[in-house]
Amino acid sequence: MKRNENITGLRKLLFYVRMSLTCAWRYWRRPAALMNASQLTRIFYRHKLKRLASGEYKLDFYLPRYPSEAFFTALEDKVVCRPPRPVSVVLSISKACAYKCPHCYQRKDDPSELPLPFLVESVRKMRDFGIIAWAVEGGEPLLRFERLEAVLAEIAGLEVWVNSTGHGATPEKIRRLAELKVTGVMSSIHSIDECKHDEFTGVAGSWRRALDFLRDCRAAGMLVGFNTVLTDREVVEGGIDRIMDLAAEHDCDYVQLIHPKACGAWMGKRFDAALHADAVRIACEAQRKYNSSKARIPSVLTAQVYEESPEMLGCCCGGIDRFYVGANGDVQPCEFVNISFGNLADVPFETAYERMRRAFPVPCQEWTCERHADEIAANAGDRLPLPWPETERLVAGWKCGSPTKVYDKMGIYR
Ligand SMILES: C[S@@+](CC[C@H](N)C(=O)[O-])C[C@H]1O[C@@H](n2cnc3c(N)ncnc32)[C@H](O)[C@@H]1O
Ligand code: SF4
Ligand code: SF4
Repeated sequence: MKRNENITGLRKLLFYVRMSLTCAWRYWRRPAALMNASQLTRIFYRHKLKRLASGEYKLDFYLPRYPSEAFFTALEDKVVCRPPRPVSVVLSISKACAYKCPHCYQRKDDPSELPLPFLVESVRKMRDFGIIAWAVEGGEPLLRFERLEAVLAEIAGLEVWVNSTGHGATPEKIRRLAELKVTGVMSSIHSIDECKHDEFTGVAGSWRRALDFLRDCRAAGMLVGFNTVLTDREVVEGGIDRIMDLAAEHDCDYVQLIHPKACGAWMGKRFDAALHADAVRIACEAQRKYNSSKARIPSVLTAQVYEESPEMLGCCCGGIDRFYVGANGDVQPCEFVNISFGNLADVPFETAYERMRRAFPVPCQEWTCERHADEIAANAGDRLPLPWPETERLVAGWKCGSPTKVYDKMGIYR
């Protein structure tokens, strides 16, 4: 069986030259689009380049496979479309979940679900709008498999990832995910210590189940990875290296390191600012280390704090690059920002999207999930996200931060 492989050194350089020529061929009539495509793709050169068994390439965890149609649509969302469009959505299909993680960002969300035909119609609308990279999740999506299948059938062939704990997995469901052309699955692994992870999720056996699920999905041909939330203290004390070793041991393609956010069930939580700053610095260093050609571990580290740093794309919530749709239809700028720009059951997607774009006109370096966490917490009731009228009042006072360098240079958000 062909395996995924990391491309480094001269081969990586040659790949980028070939890709640039392909872009030049595609956009030679539009010099501005060509310049912008080059500005944008160049920043991914610092990442490990993965050649997949399918013959396609992954420049970055969040970018669709090259040279898929999804890749070029993502590029065109940015370099051709005016105004530029978002590339990705995190879509929750159900809040149902048997786990009790203390940090869960949707813990206080309304548990109702959009009726399935309406959910499917909304998915079609977002797909036709140019959303090309999908992270489909729950709660636990495998527990509501008929909903998951219906959604995946609409977006088969795009860049599709499923976030799942593996709870409720069966060989038939895994086979079906592969049939529906799911690119990859991500499972939460928050510790190398089985007991510690299980204590966090509140469910005995959850660590083992996640690893078994990833093993079976890999065998079915999908990419696999960990979604890992480490505390700042764990990061400072060498936790990233330990998780990366575990990921390599289990043949994972990716580790997405998510930094803890004061949202959902953790809304109002205080983090030590000095420790946090250290953790961010260490996570960025780790990203560079694990993406360098000298890295001895094949798994790729994708630390959110690096991907969202000023040297990369900054905060791209609010429909700049991404947004979130909760299980009951609330449109949020990001899963970690519990405010709603409208519920799809009440307003058309376009309306919620336009509201969101007005609130986040320019991509900025400051992280919305941190910058506005206290203010959102101060206005939150028992139920999240904040409904549109309160969101509207809140965001009216928000000022733009410092524009993200790469998008500023491209000049597409002025
Ligand atoms: C909501 S879960 C959805 C998929 C599945 N239920 C799971 O936990 O893997 C998506 C990811 O977000 C992470 N997450 C949830 N709340 C968070 C928070 N407040 N801060 C940081 N990460 C969070 C979870 O740990 C998980 O890795
Ligand atoms: S983070 Fe995921 S697994 Fe944990 S409670 Fe929330 S939805 Fe369930
Ligand atoms: S709000 Fe911005 S910085 Fe925070 S997680 Fe979302 S996209 Fe990233």
